[in-house]
Amino acid sequence: MERGWGRIGGGQGGRLVGIVMIVGLLLGMVAIKGVGAQSEQPQYTGAEGCKSCHEEIYKGWKGTRHARAYETLKKKSQEALPACQRCHVTGYDRAGGYIDQELTPDLAAVQCESCHGAGSLHVNDPANKKGLIGKPGEGVCRECHTKGQDPKFDYQHKIRLVHGQSAKGGK
Ligand code: HEC
Ligand code: HEC
Ligand code: HEC
Ligand code: HEC
Repeated sequence: MERGWGRIGGGQGGRLVGIVMIVGLLLGMVAIKGVGAQSEQPQYTGAEGCKSCHEEIYKGWKGTRHARAYETLKKKSQEALPACQRCHVTGYDRAGGYIDQELTPDLAAVQCESCHGAGSLHVNDPANKKGLIGKPGEGVCRECHTKGQDPKFDYQHKIRLVHGQSAKGGK
């Protein structure tokens, strides 16, 4: 009887159990920290995630060609071509961005986050602007409106059109 459960808690076996527990705890902490760091990175949500707070801009954008950019590819039966998707979807080749119609249908077409950056942190807490680009510069547009694709692109003129006919008067 003396060599029952009491023994395991005492001698070498006990030390082993203790070490295993500490290693387990440490591993657990590392795992939790990993998940925490991951969720600090903004993810793409799609324009539907912006609609509730930026309704006028959303409505305006919905009327722009950007909002129909995926439809454009469909009309040409080129929607499955990565070479075309690159500029006609949101977050192509970026972490959490567009993959295909099955996995990421909400990220088709050129949406808010194509210009403003992935916005999930801001969606969850409007005061959090991490990753959010407040005023997208010409370089952002030029990722798609390249010299080859759109030689006559005029940034100052075109930024007035990105939100379509929103409440702010065509901005
Ligand atoms: C829960 C409400 C809410 C949601 C959802 C939301 N926003 Fe905002 N957004 C705000 C508020 C409020 C401000 C103004 C905050 C400020 O100026 O401090 C703002 C400001 C902005 C700005 C201007 C930032 C700047 O620095 O001038 C941009 C750009 C923006 N939002 C884009 C987005 C995008 C893109 C989405 C969707 C991915 C989105 N917002 C979703 C509430 C929201
Ligand atoms: C992710 C790629 C992408 C980004 C980034 C992008 N655009 Fe576009 N843009 C497109 C595509 C694709 C079209 C054509 C959509 C269609 O007709 O199907 C387009 C069309 C337009 C049009 C309407 C056609 C025209 O030439 O007048 C305007 C205006 C425009 N973009 C302005 C901008 C501005 C300004 C920026 C930067 C602030 C920008 N775009 C960023 C891909 C992009
Ligand atoms: C480098 C970015 C980029 C790539 C890659 C790209 N597009 Fe576009 N596309 C744009 C931009 C920007 C516009 C709007 C400005 C313009 O008309 O050139 C546009 C406009 C269009 C239009 C509308 C033209 C019009 O005048 O109505 C069609 C159709 C189109 N793209 C089809 C395609 C197809 C098909 C592919 C693949 C073979 C493709 N695009 C690849 C950026 C791109
Ligand atoms: C093609 C790029 C592009 C797209 C798409 C786009 N924006 Fe913008 N947005 C801009 C630019 C450029 C500015 C700065 C305009 C300026 O300062 O004149 C801006 C400014 C803003 C601002 C701050 C100023 C203001 O007008 O209130 C908010 C908020 C905003 N955008 C939200 C959105 C939301 C929400 C969407 C999608 C429904 C969206 N944007 C789609 C390029 C874009």
